[in-house]
Amino acid sequence: MPHWLRNSLLALAALAVAGLALSWRPSIDAAAPPGRQAFAPGLIEQGARLAAVGNCVSCHTASPSSPFAGGRPMETPFGTVYSTNITPDAATGIGAWPEAAFARALREGVARDGSHLYPAFPYDHYTRLTDRDIHALYAYVMTREPVTAPGRANRLVFPLNFRPLLAGWKLLFLDRTPWTPVAGHDDSWNRGAYLSDALGHCSACHSPRNALGAEDRKRYLDGGDAEGWHATALNASSPSPLPWTVDKLAVYLRTGIAPGHAIAGGPMQEVVAGLAHADDADVRAIASYIHATLGADTPERQARAEKSSRMAQQPLAASAAAGTVPGAPADPAPATQMAQMALGAQVYAGACARCHDAGREIGSAGALPMPLAIANHVPDARNLLRIVRDGVHPGPNAPGRWMPAFGDTLTDEQLTALAAWLRRQAAGAPPWPDLADTVRKTRTP
Ligand code: HEC
Ligand code: HEC
Ligand code: HEC
Repeated sequence: MPHWLRNSLLALAALAVAGLALSWRPSIDAAAPPGRQAFAPGLIEQGARLAAVGNCVSCHTASPSSPFAGGRPMETPFGTVYSTNITPDAATGIGAWPEAAFARALREGVARDGSHLYPAFPYDHYTRLTDRDIHALYAYVMTREPVTAPGRANRLVFPLNFRPLLAGWKLLFLDRTPWTPVAGHDDSWNRGAYLSDALGHCSACHSPRNALGAEDRKRYLDGGDAEGWHATALNASSPSPLPWTVDKLAVYLRTGIAPGHAIAGGPMQEVVAGLAHADDADVRAIASYIHATLGADTPERQARAEKSSRMAQQPLAASAAAGTVPGAPADPAPATQMAQMALGAQVYAGACARCHDAGREIGSAGALPMPLAIANHVPDARNLLRIVRDGVHPGPNAPGRWMPAFGDTLTDEQLTALAAWLRRQAAGAPPWPDLADTVRKTRTP
């Protein structure tokens, strides 16, 4: 464990000991599970549409045959936390939880028995949910199929395996200010902001986090980490080659693919799978809000869009071979990199060009030109490497958009060369630092 991490953990421990009295929360008495008839008509469906935005099912499901039964491992820098069973099974799920206990879990991250919950459960966002929405979510969750599935023990580094410590974390980082509409913005922006932040927790992945795993709210949507992927910045520093429009965002958020933009191939795929079942107007509100956070089309963005479109119009393999890629650096690659560039070009021509130089227009045999693929433009190579190694398995909403996996056919040397070459020829960007290291670290065991 690095020194800074140990020091911060010790600081947190001291804080928690000081705050131990504060950390105590009463347990809430068990109650009989409410039946379907306990809820007003339409409430369960409303809860379903909200749960789709909150993406409750993806974290709380380990096996598709037992939705909401928990047991999915979540890797954090501090170890593994397992999600819990939130089906209405009285013994192993939350069947005995009255609504007050459910609401407290979402707002304060406290379980029915009074113990503190890890923020791998994004209650730092759900805390801003309205009473009405919590009520609808409760109706939905409590009317799922009960599954008997005991919880799994977390594997966390000392002292974080001691739950009362989380009281210290909350003292520092849990902002429980209730949601209020922001003046100066219209209803649609405010609806989108509420859904994206309080329920969709977009910034849980798309913002950087500090040493104690809390989101850096000063760098809201400035790009973050998610399950070994880079979650793209969605603010003014968005590196998107083509600027997003509200329409394209709405299509992307529902289907995972929009014209001129890359497919959702990593952790974003699950978010999209949820949003496909959300209310149409709600997805549109999220799209307009995110479009606003992305910010204005600056001259610099327009120039980038123009350059990327020009690069995308020519087959990359042929134009790179002829040295005529419009946006690529004019100066030749340094002599030390010549061999690597040649190898990268060769791998691209042999393994990728037949689809990616054909363009999507020709149907399922073609795919997006590489200059438009955001994976080549983000600050590190992890997304590109994962896509190439594991392929793309299309979500239910983008059938046919399927890419083979190259993890077994390309060596580390070939992968490194391919990534270095794409970075230069497809993004026209400076080399990724520590690329060979990233290739090693992202190797699937
Ligand atoms: C990013 C992953 C993630 C998402 C999304 C998520 N949860 Fe969870 N949830 C967890 C984890 C992990 C825990 C267990 C935390 C712990 O053990 O400290 C948890 C715990 C809970 C608990 C406490 C259960 C118990 O037995 O203590 C409830 C209730 C809950 N979640 C409901 C929901 C609802 C409702 C949603 C959707 C609105 C949701 N969760 C979305 C990860 C998630
Ligand atoms: C058989 C066709 C095929 C081959 C070969 C292929 N891909 Fe893909 N690739 C696709 C499809 C289809 C997608 C999904 C989205 C789309 O249509 O662009 C995709 C997606 C991607 C993406 C995400 C951006 C995007 O297009 O949505 C990247 C990056 C990518 N491929 C890189 C590569 C690289 C590098 C190679 C060579 C090692 C390669 N692909 C080989 C078909 C292919
Ligand atoms: C579980 C983590 C996670 C959550 C939650 C999440 N995203 Fe993403 N998102 C990603 C990752 C990782 C990528 C990059 C590529 C991928 O996964 O395909 C991405 C990509 C995107 C992109 C494409 C960016 C570009 O320029 O190409 C958009 C737009 C986006 N997310 C919007 C959202 C919105 C809106 C929300 C909330 C409703 C959200 N995301 C929630 C992880 C997440």
